[in-house]
Amino acid sequence: MDELTLGRADFPDGFVFAAATSAYQIEGHAFGGAGRTHWDAFAEMPGRVHEGHTGAVACDHFHRWPEDLDLVRQAGLDGYRFSTSWARVMPDGVHVNPEGLDFYDRLVDGMLDRGLKPMATLYHWELPEALSRRGGWTVREIPERLADFASIIGRRLGDRLWSTAPINEPWCVAWLSHYEGHHAPGLQSLDAAGKAMHHVALSHGLSVAALRAENVGNLGAVCNMEYPHPLTDSEQDRQAARIYDGIYNRWFAAAMTKGQYPEEVMAGLEPYLPAGWRDDMATIAQPIDWFGINYYTCKRLTRGGDVWPRIVDAPGPLPKTDMGWEIYPEGLEKLLRRTATEYTGDLPLYITENGMANRDAVLGQDPERIAYLDGHLHAVRRVIEGGVPMKGYTFWSLLDNYEWAFGYDKRFGLVHVDFETQLRTPRASFHALVRALAA
Ligand code: FCB
Repeated sequence: MDELTLGRADFPDGFVFAAATSAYQIEGHAFGGAGRTHWDAFAEMPGRVHEGHTGAVACDHFHRWPEDLDLVRQAGLDGYRFSTSWARVMPDGVHVNPEGLDFYDRLVDGMLDRGLKPMATLYHWELPEALSRRGGWTVREIPERLADFASIIGRRLGDRLWSTAPINEPWCVAWLSHYEGHHAPGLQSLDAAGKAMHHVALSHGLSVAALRAENVGNLGAVCNMEYPHPLTDSEQDRQAARIYDGIYNRWFAAAMTKGQYPEEVMAGLEPYLPAGWRDDMATIAQPIDWFGINYYTCKRLTRGGDVWPRIVDAPGPLPKTDMGWEIYPEGLEKLLRRTATEYTGDLPLYITENGMANRDAVLGQDPERIAYLDGHLHAVRRVIEGGVPMKGYTFWSLLDNYEWAFGYDKRFGLVHVDFETQLRTPRASFHALVRALAA
């Protein structure tokens, strides 16, 4: 496929098209006085990150940001979703590094100069190592510190941000990193996961309050969702899918919109939540202005231990991305409808990430990524036709970048990056998007 089959005119007026990146994945963490993060420590542990890659240089966006923002504008996009690295702004998690704050000040002005909406996420996973040593997300101090960081960002940038969300993908920050162990700090502990699942939710609430106190408007949340298929039709597998749905898709959505945790997860997780968790639920559920969903794929679930589901490694029959993730736009459609019906109601909904990793068979051709984008845009359109208040779509990612535990081995960009020379080359998907948005 080399053209998208729908374009700007197929979406409501004011629908926002954007592309996303995140700080540690592109900036070059070695520059500008940033502090060590738990990802730097994680990458030094043997076998945790592909070839021990780190974000030290990444896309050198710290120096090349004007060129990168030019690309966003050339794509014809309306907004740019970026993140502010905690360890760049506060290298030890406590004291401010003025050079870090100045960087984001310039970056936001750079977006406004190009007519782009600055869509900020405060925490996209770069916990300062100093805070990780104090227990990281397993201790209550961290949500309080994140709220301090939120105040600092709000005070400095809040007058110019178009939208702000405290945390990218709470499920990854908590469960993937403390129970499954795939992301920093790499723990596999139900006790740590239970604490983190609550502290991450709490940090959303505390940070929203801190931002609002600085008069920052248009505050939201960015949660990831995956469509849970039972591996077989057995009751055990259907139960596994229900629990996965509860942990992955419902936990944070329910907490943030209703001040409740889903019962099917509480059955196993409640004993591991921090003492006094109930007292925080009103803080977690304070009003927000929009809700964002990051969606990539579906999973096949079967029974693992007594409670927790097991993700089946041999994935299902659908075409797969270079991550091995099945391509299933219908899952996005179902999850958006369900989220609106059960949780968010009239609140504006955004796709805050969606995209695929793909190898370049030939640089200059990108049919699979164009088809992926097209399929998911059609899903969004069907949802809009069904009356769900969808207000925007954000593609992951603008650039090839540091894909966490996969290092530089996976390529998600609309723009190819040669990590030796830092040369940026817009892919065919970028050009297809330009045509679709201009049309
Ligand atoms: C999401 C992350 C983003 C990127 C994509 C592929 O889970 O938010 O940083 O890694 O997946």
